[in-house]
Amino acid sequence: MIERVEMKNYKQCVVKSEGPDSASMPPVPISPIKVGHIDDVQELRKTKPKTIPQRFVRDMTERPTLTATLLPPPHTHMPVIDFSKLSKGNNEEVLGEIFSLATACEEWGFFQVINHEIDHNLLESIENLSREFFMLPLEEKQKYPMAPGTVQGYGQAFVFSEDQKLDWCNMFALGLEPQYLRNPNLWPKRPERFSETVEVYSGEIRKLCHSLLTYIALGLDLKGDVFEKMFGVSVQAIRMNYYPPCSRPDLVLGLSPHSDGSALTVLQQAKGGPVGLQILKDNTWVPIQPIPNALVINIGDTIEVLTNGKYRSVEHRAVAHEEKDRLSIVTFFAPSYEVELGPMPEFVDENHPCKYRRYNHGEYSKHYVTNKLQGKKTLDFAKIQTKIAN
Ligand code: OGA
Ligand code: NI
Repeated sequence: MIERVEMKNYKQCVVKSEGPDSASMPPVPISPIKVGHIDDVQELRKTKPKTIPQRFVRDMTERPTLTATLLPPPHTHMPVIDFSKLSKGNNEEVLGEIFSLATACEEWGFFQVINHEIDHNLLESIENLSREFFMLPLEEKQKYPMAPGTVQGYGQAFVFSEDQKLDWCNMFALGLEPQYLRNPNLWPKRPERFSETVEVYSGEIRKLCHSLLTYIALGLDLKGDVFEKMFGVSVQAIRMNYYPPCSRPDLVLGLSPHSDGSALTVLQQAKGGPVGLQILKDNTWVPIQPIPNALVINIGDTIEVLTNGKYRSVEHRAVAHEEKDRLSIVTFFAPSYEVELGPMPEFVDENHPCKYRRYNHGEYSKHYVTNKLQGKKTLDFAKIQTKIAN
Protein backbone atom coordinates (compact mmCIF):
# COMPACT_ATOMS: atom_id res chain seq x y z
CA MET A 1 0.00 0.00 0.00
CA ILE A 2 1.37 3.37 -0.95
CA GLU A 3 0.27 6.25 1.12
CA ARG A 4 1.08 9.73 -0.01
CA VAL A 5 1.44 12.15 2.80
CA GLU A 6 3.31 15.05 1.37
CA MET A 7 1.87 17.95 3.29
CA LYS A 8 4.50 19.90 5.08
CA ASN A 9 3.78 21.33 8.44
CA TYR A 10 4.70 24.86 7.59
CA LYS A 11 3.71 25.99 11.07
CA GLN A 12 7.01 24.58 12.21
CA CYS A 13 8.91 27.27 10.43
CA VAL A 14 6.65 30.31 10.61
CA VAL A 15 4.58 32.19 13.12
CA LYS A 16 1.84 34.67 12.42
CA SER A 17 3.04 38.21 12.65
CA GLU A 18 1.31 40.43 15.16
CA GLY A 19 1.54 43.48 12.96
CA PRO A 20 -1.06 45.06 10.73
CA ASP A 21 -0.59 42.47 8.04
CA SER A 22 -1.07 39.42 10.19
CA ALA A 23 -3.09 36.49 8.87
CA SER A 24 -1.97 37.32 5.45
CA MET A 25 1.23 38.36 3.98
CA PRO A 26 4.51 36.73 4.18
CA PRO A 27 5.04 35.19 7.51
CA VAL A 28 7.70 36.17 9.94
CA PRO A 29 10.32 33.46 10.36
CA ILE A 30 10.87 32.28 13.94
CA SER A 31 14.59 32.18 13.43
CA PRO A 32 16.36 33.88 10.55
CA ILE A 33 16.35 31.69 7.49
CA LYS A 34 19.88 30.92 6.36
CA VAL A 35 19.98 31.40 2.62
CA GLY A 36 23.74 31.82 2.16
CA HIS A 37 25.22 34.26 -0.31
CA ILE A 38 22.90 35.25 -3.13
CA ASP A 39 24.67 36.86 -6.05
CA ASP A 40 22.77 39.66 -7.73
CA VAL A 41 22.67 38.35 -11.28
CA GLN A 42 22.79 41.79 -12.90
CA GLU A 43 25.98 42.66 -10.98
CA LEU A 44 27.44 39.28 -11.80
CA ARG A 45 26.76 39.82 -15.45
CA LYS A 46 28.39 43.27 -15.30
CA THR A 47 31.51 42.31 -13.41
CA LYS A 48 32.13 38.69 -14.41
CA PRO A 49 30.14 38.09 -17.56
CA LYS A 50 31.45 34.56 -18.07
CA THR A 51 31.08 33.30 -14.51
CA ILE A 52 28.20 31.07 -13.50
CA PRO A 53 28.48 30.37 -9.77
CA GLN A 54 27.74 26.79 -8.86
CA ARG A 55 24.50 27.76 -7.08
CA PHE A 56 23.02 28.70 -10.44
CA VAL A 57 24.10 25.56 -12.27
CA ARG A 58 21.17 23.17 -12.42
CA ASP A 59 21.35 19.43 -12.06
CA MET A 60 21.29 17.65 -15.41
CA THR A 61 17.63 16.71 -15.09
CA GLU A 62 16.58 20.33 -14.53
CA ARG A 63 18.56 21.98 -17.32
CA PRO A 64 16.44 23.65 -19.96
CA THR A 65 15.95 22.59 -23.53
CA LEU A 66 16.70 25.79 -25.38
CA THR A 67 16.11 24.83 -28.95
CA ALA A 68 12.81 24.04 -27.35
CA THR A 69 11.18 21.09 -28.91
CA LEU A 70 8.99 22.73 -31.45
CA LEU A 71 5.97 20.60 -31.83
CA PRO A 72 4.07 21.09 -35.06
CA PRO A 73 1.32 23.73 -34.87
CA PRO A 74 -1.17 24.08 -33.29
CA HIS A 75 0.75 22.75 -30.28
CA THR A 76 3.19 25.64 -30.27
CA HIS A 77 0.46 28.23 -30.39
CA MET A 78 -1.11 29.21 -27.18
CA PRO A 79 -4.77 30.13 -27.78
CA VAL A 80 -5.52 33.78 -28.46
CA ILE A 81 -8.63 35.39 -26.97
CA ASP A 82 -10.00 38.55 -28.53
CA PHE A 83 -11.30 40.45 -25.53
CA SER A 84 -13.19 42.96 -27.69
CA LYS A 85 -15.41 40.12 -28.92
CA LEU A 86 -16.33 39.36 -25.32
CA SER A 87 -16.93 42.95 -24.30
CA LYS A 88 -18.41 44.43 -27.47
CA GLY A 89 -19.32 41.54 -29.74
CA ASN A 90 -22.76 40.52 -30.92
CA ASN A 91 -24.37 37.50 -29.27
CA GLU A 92 -22.77 35.04 -31.59
CA GLU A 93 -19.29 36.51 -31.11
CA VAL A 94 -19.65 36.60 -27.34
CA LEU A 95 -20.74 32.96 -27.21
CA GLY A 96 -18.04 31.90 -29.66
CA GLU A 97 -15.30 33.65 -27.67
CA ILE A 98 -16.57 32.30 -24.34
CA PHE A 99 -16.33 28.86 -25.89
CA SER A 100 -12.75 29.54 -27.08
CA LEU A 101 -11.88 30.81 -23.62
CA ALA A 102 -13.32 27.70 -21.97
CA THR A 103 -11.39 25.46 -24.37
CA ALA A 104 -8.17 27.42 -23.74
CA CYS A 105 -8.61 27.08 -19.97
CA GLU A 106 -9.31 23.39 -20.17
CA GLU A 107 -6.70 22.38 -22.73
CA TRP A 108 -3.88 24.84 -22.05
CA GLY A 109 -4.46 26.63 -18.74
CA PHE A 110 -2.85 29.56 -20.59
CA PHE A 111 -3.98 32.01 -23.25
CA GLN A 112 -2.96 35.37 -24.70
CA VAL A 113 -5.48 38.20 -24.66
CA ILE A 114 -5.53 40.74 -27.48
CA ASN A 115 -7.67 43.89 -27.69
CA HIS A 116 -7.83 43.92 -23.89
CA GLU A 117 -8.76 47.62 -23.78
CA ILE A 118 -5.78 48.60 -21.64
CA ASP A 119 -4.02 51.58 -23.16
CA HIS A 120 -0.82 50.52 -24.92
CA ASN A 121 0.89 53.65 -23.61
CA LEU A 122 0.24 52.43 -20.09
CA LEU A 123 1.77 49.04 -20.94
CA GLU A 124 4.76 50.87 -22.37
CA SER A 125 5.07 53.13 -19.31
CA ILE A 126 5.08 50.28 -16.81
CA GLU A 127 7.60 48.47 -18.97
CA ASN A 128 9.92 51.48 -19.21
CA LEU A 129 9.66 52.32 -15.53
CA SER A 130 10.30 48.72 -14.48
CA ARG A 131 13.36 48.66 -16.69
CA GLU A 132 14.56 51.97 -15.26
CA PHE A 133 14.14 50.56 -11.78
CA PHE A 134 16.26 47.51 -12.54
CA MET A 135 18.90 49.73 -14.16
CA LEU A 136 19.35 51.79 -10.96
CA PRO A 137 22.58 51.24 -9.03
CA LEU A 138 22.43 48.22 -6.75
CA GLU A 139 22.64 50.39 -3.59
CA GLU A 140 19.50 52.23 -4.67
CA LYS A 141 17.56 49.03 -5.30
CA GLN A 142 18.78 47.58 -2.02
CA LYS A 143 16.94 50.32 -0.18
CA TYR A 144 13.91 48.06 -0.76
CA PRO A 145 15.28 44.66 0.23
CA MET A 146 13.29 41.47 0.08
CA ALA A 147 14.06 39.95 3.48
CA PRO A 148 14.74 36.20 3.45
CA GLY A 149 11.48 34.31 3.72
CA THR A 150 9.37 37.22 2.46
CA VAL A 151 8.18 38.02 -1.05
CA GLN A 152 8.00 41.82 -1.28
CA GLY A 153 10.83 44.12 -2.33
CA TYR A 154 13.95 43.64 -4.41
CA GLY A 155 15.83 40.35 -4.48
CA GLN A 156 15.12 36.67 -5.01
CA ALA A 157 11.96 35.16 -3.62
CA PHE A 158 11.42 31.53 -2.62
CA VAL A 159 14.96 30.91 -1.32
CA PHE A 160 14.95 28.99 1.96
CA SER A 161 18.27 27.22 2.31
CA GLU A 162 21.97 27.60 1.65
CA ASP A 163 22.15 24.77 -0.83
CA GLN A 164 19.06 25.65 -2.88
CA LYS A 165 19.73 26.39 -6.56
CA LEU A 166 19.11 29.99 -7.53
CA ASP A 167 17.23 31.46 -10.48
CA TRP A 168 18.94 33.66 -13.06
CA CYS A 169 16.60 36.50 -12.23
CA ASN A 170 16.19 39.65 -10.16
CA MET A 171 12.74 40.35 -8.80
CA PHE A 172 10.93 43.34 -7.47
CA ALA A 173 7.54 42.66 -5.90
CA LEU A 174 4.82 44.63 -4.13
CA GLY A 175 1.58 43.64 -2.41
CA LEU A 176 -1.15 45.96 -3.69
CA GLU A 177 -4.63 45.06 -2.54
CA PRO A 178 -6.15 45.05 0.00
CA GLN A 179 -4.29 48.08 1.30
CA TYR A 180 -3.09 46.34 4.48
CA LEU A 181 -0.71 44.30 2.33
CA ARG A 182 1.22 47.39 1.42
CA ASN A 183 4.53 48.11 2.98
CA PRO A 184 5.11 51.80 2.17
CA ASN A 185 8.85 51.45 2.86
CA LEU A 186 9.16 49.18 -0.15
CA TRP A 187 7.57 51.58 -2.67
CA PRO A 188 10.46 53.06 -4.63
CA LYS A 189 11.02 56.80 -4.76
CA ARG A 190 12.91 56.39 -7.99
CA PRO A 191 12.26 56.29 -10.89
CA GLU A 192 9.83 59.15 -10.65
CA ARG A 193 6.24 58.19 -11.40
CA PHE A 194 6.99 54.53 -10.70
CA SER A 195 4.56 54.19 -7.82
CA GLU A 196 1.71 56.13 -9.39
CA THR A 197 2.08 54.17 -12.63
CA VAL A 198 1.97 50.89 -10.71
CA GLU A 199 -1.23 52.16 -9.14
CA VAL A 200 -2.94 53.02 -12.44
CA TYR A 201 -1.68 49.87 -14.17
CA SER A 202 -2.87 47.65 -11.33
CA GLY A 203 -6.32 49.20 -11.41
CA GLU A 204 -6.63 48.35 -15.11
CA ILE A 205 -5.32 44.81 -14.64
CA ARG A 206 -7.75 44.32 -11.75
CA LYS A 207 -10.67 45.26 -14.00
CA LEU A 208 -9.43 42.84 -16.65
CA CYS A 209 -9.20 40.04 -14.08
CA HIS A 210 -12.76 40.70 -12.91
CA SER A 211 -14.02 40.59 -16.49
CA LEU A 212 -12.09 37.47 -17.40
CA LEU A 213 -13.35 35.69 -14.29
CA THR A 214 -16.89 36.58 -15.32
CA TYR A 215 -16.44 35.05 -18.77
CA ILE A 216 -14.61 32.06 -17.32
CA ALA A 217 -17.57 31.51 -14.97
CA LEU A 218 -20.05 31.75 -17.86
CA GLY A 219 -17.97 29.26 -19.85
CA LEU A 220 -18.27 26.85 -16.93
CA ASP A 221 -22.07 27.27 -16.88
CA LEU A 222 -21.87 29.18 -13.62
CA LYS A 223 -23.34 32.57 -12.77
CA GLY A 224 -21.12 35.37 -14.07
CA ASP A 225 -20.50 36.91 -10.65
CA VAL A 226 -19.83 33.67 -8.78
CA PHE A 227 -16.07 34.21 -8.37
CA GLU A 228 -16.39 37.88 -7.56
CA LYS A 229 -18.86 37.06 -4.78
CA MET A 230 -16.83 34.16 -3.51
CA PHE A 231 -13.46 35.96 -3.53
CA GLY A 232 -14.48 38.88 -1.34
CA VAL A 233 -11.93 41.70 -1.40
CA SER A 234 -9.44 40.12 -3.77
CA VAL A 235 -5.73 40.04 -3.16
CA GLN A 236 -3.52 41.54 -5.82
CA ALA A 237 0.26 41.66 -6.06
CA ILE A 238 2.71 42.67 -8.75
CA ARG A 239 6.15 41.28 -9.51
CA MET A 240 8.65 42.50 -12.03
CA ASN A 241 11.11 39.85 -13.16
CA TYR A 242 14.35 40.93 -14.82
CA TYR A 243 16.39 38.24 -16.55
CA PRO A 244 19.87 39.46 -17.58
CA PRO A 245 21.64 37.69 -20.43
CA CYS A 246 23.59 34.60 -19.36
CA SER A 247 26.73 33.24 -21.04
CA ARG A 248 25.50 29.65 -20.39
CA PRO A 249 21.71 29.67 -20.65
CA ASP A 250 21.87 25.90 -21.10
CA LEU A 251 23.00 25.49 -17.46
CA VAL A 252 20.62 27.82 -15.62
CA LEU A 253 16.93 28.59 -15.26
CA GLY A 254 15.50 32.09 -15.32
CA LEU A 255 12.68 30.98 -13.06
CA SER A 256 12.17 27.51 -11.58
CA PRO A 257 9.20 25.44 -12.73
CA HIS A 258 6.07 26.22 -10.75
CA SER A 259 2.35 26.76 -10.94
CA ASP A 260 0.98 30.04 -9.63
CA GLY A 261 -0.77 30.18 -6.26
CA SER A 262 -3.25 32.75 -7.59
CA ALA A 263 -6.68 32.41 -9.20
CA LEU A 264 -5.48 34.19 -12.37
CA THR A 265 -2.08 35.55 -13.34
CA VAL A 266 -1.54 38.28 -15.92
CA LEU A 267 1.89 38.41 -17.55
CA GLN A 268 3.17 41.29 -19.60
CA GLN A 269 6.34 40.56 -21.53
CA ALA A 270 8.42 43.63 -22.40
CA LYS A 271 8.70 44.42 -26.08
CA GLY A 272 11.72 43.24 -28.02
CA GLY A 273 12.63 40.57 -25.49
CA PRO A 274 13.57 37.03 -26.45
CA VAL A 275 11.23 34.08 -25.98
CA GLY A 276 11.67 33.04 -22.36
CA LEU A 277 8.44 31.63 -20.98
CA GLN A 278 7.93 27.89 -21.39
CA ILE A 279 4.90 25.90 -20.34
CA LEU A 280 4.68 22.18 -19.69
CA LYS A 281 2.22 20.81 -22.21
CA ASP A 282 1.78 17.08 -22.66
CA ASN A 283 5.06 16.55 -20.81
CA THR A 284 7.01 18.80 -23.16
CA TRP A 285 8.32 22.28 -22.44
CA VAL A 286 6.71 24.51 -25.04
CA PRO A 287 8.17 28.02 -25.58
CA ILE A 288 5.63 30.79 -25.83
CA GLN A 289 6.01 33.25 -28.65
CA PRO A 290 4.89 36.66 -27.36
CA ILE A 291 2.34 38.62 -29.39
CA PRO A 292 3.09 42.38 -29.23
CA ASN A 293 0.75 44.18 -26.79
CA ALA A 294 -1.01 40.96 -25.82
CA LEU A 295 -1.19 39.84 -22.19
CA VAL A 296 -0.56 36.23 -21.23
CA ILE A 297 -3.10 34.89 -18.74
CA ASN A 298 -2.84 31.69 -16.82
CA ILE A 299 -5.03 29.72 -14.48
CA GLY A 300 -3.67 29.49 -10.94
CA ASP A 301 -4.08 26.89 -8.21
CA THR A 302 -7.30 28.48 -6.86
CA ILE A 303 -9.25 27.86 -10.06
CA GLU A 304 -7.86 24.33 -10.27
CA VAL A 305 -9.21 23.59 -6.81
CA LEU A 306 -12.58 25.32 -7.36
CA THR A 307 -13.18 23.41 -10.61
CA ASN A 308 -11.97 20.16 -9.02
CA GLY A 309 -9.22 19.93 -11.63
CA LYS A 310 -11.35 20.59 -14.72
CA TYR A 311 -9.15 23.64 -15.31
CA ARG A 312 -5.58 23.06 -14.22
CA SER A 313 -2.85 25.45 -13.14
CA VAL A 314 -0.20 24.52 -15.66
CA GLU A 315 3.44 24.30 -14.72
CA HIS A 316 5.68 26.90 -16.34
CA ARG A 317 9.21 28.29 -16.09
CA ALA A 318 11.45 30.91 -17.67
CA VAL A 319 14.76 30.34 -19.44
CA ALA A 320 17.61 32.82 -19.87
CA HIS A 321 19.10 34.00 -23.17
CA GLU A 322 22.75 34.21 -24.17
CA GLU A 323 22.69 37.79 -25.49
CA LYS A 324 19.41 39.42 -24.66
CA ASP A 325 17.88 40.46 -21.39
CA ARG A 326 14.18 39.97 -20.72
CA LEU A 327 11.68 41.75 -18.50
CA SER A 328 8.26 40.57 -17.44
CA ILE A 329 5.61 42.24 -15.30
CA VAL A 330 3.39 39.79 -13.52
CA THR A 331 0.14 40.39 -11.64
CA PHE A 332 -1.27 37.79 -9.27
CA PHE A 333 -4.99 37.98 -8.59
CA ALA A 334 -6.41 35.83 -5.82
CA PRO A 335 -9.29 35.55 -3.33
CA SER A 336 -9.25 37.32 0.02
CA TYR A 337 -7.12 35.46 2.55
CA GLU A 338 -10.19 34.96 4.71
CA VAL A 339 -12.00 32.85 2.14
CA GLU A 340 -12.51 29.11 2.52
CA LEU A 341 -11.94 27.25 -0.72
CA GLY A 342 -12.63 23.78 -2.00
CA PRO A 343 -14.08 22.16 -5.11
CA MET A 344 -17.47 23.63 -6.05
CA PRO A 345 -20.31 21.08 -5.91
CA GLU A 346 -20.95 21.60 -9.65
CA PHE A 347 -17.66 19.82 -10.40
CA VAL A 348 -18.00 16.86 -8.07
CA ASP A 349 -20.01 13.73 -8.87
CA GLU A 350 -19.53 9.98 -9.00
CA ASN A 351 -17.36 10.28 -12.11
CA HIS A 352 -15.42 13.20 -10.68
CA PRO A 353 -14.57 12.45 -7.07
CA CYS A 354 -13.49 15.33 -4.92
CA LYS A 355 -9.74 15.76 -5.35
CA TYR A 356 -9.04 18.63 -2.95
CA ARG A 357 -9.96 19.32 0.63
CA ARG A 358 -11.40 22.60 1.88
CA TYR A 359 -8.88 25.04 3.25
CA ASN A 360 -8.41 28.67 4.10
CA HIS A 361 -6.83 30.60 1.24
CA GLY A 362 -4.63 32.65 3.60
CA GLU A 363 -3.14 29.41 4.91
CA TYR A 364 -2.52 28.25 1.37
CA SER A 365 -0.82 31.51 0.46
CA LYS A 366 1.44 31.17 3.43
CA HIS A 367 2.26 27.65 2.46
CA TYR A 368 3.01 28.85 -1.08
CA VAL A 369 5.39 31.62 -0.07
CA THR A 370 7.23 29.54 2.51
CA ASN A 371 8.23 26.80 0.11
CA LYS A 372 10.60 26.82 -2.80
CA LEU A 373 9.12 26.71 -6.30
CA GLN A 374 8.92 23.06 -7.25
CA GLY A 375 6.55 22.40 -10.09
CA LYS A 376 3.09 21.66 -8.77
CA LYS A 377 4.24 20.29 -5.43
CA THR A 378 2.77 23.20 -3.48
CA LEU A 379 -0.74 22.11 -4.40
CA ASP A 380 -0.22 18.87 -2.46
CA PHE A 381 -1.29 21.06 0.45
CA ALA A 382 -4.86 20.81 -0.82
CA LYS A 383 -4.85 17.38 -2.44
CA ILE A 384 -6.87 14.69 -0.80
CA GLN A 385 -4.36 12.00 0.01
CA THR A 386 -4.86 8.96 -2.13
CA LYS A 387 -4.38 5.49 -0.84
CA ILE A 388 -3.45 3.12 -3.59
CA ALA A 389 -3.77 -0.54 -2.72
CA ASN A 390 -1.45 -2.85 -4.59
C1 OGA B 1 5.90 34.23 -12.54
C2 OGA B 1 6.18 33.70 -13.89
C3 OGA B 1 7.23 34.00 -16.04
C4 OGA B 1 8.04 34.99 -16.79
O1 OGA B 1 6.44 35.31 -12.21
O2 OGA B 1 5.14 33.57 -11.80
O3 OGA B 1 5.75 32.62 -14.20
O4 OGA B 1 8.14 34.81 -17.99
N1 OGA B 1 6.91 34.45 -14.74
O5 OGA B 1 8.58 35.90 -16.18
NI1 NI C 1 4.29 31.93 -12.75
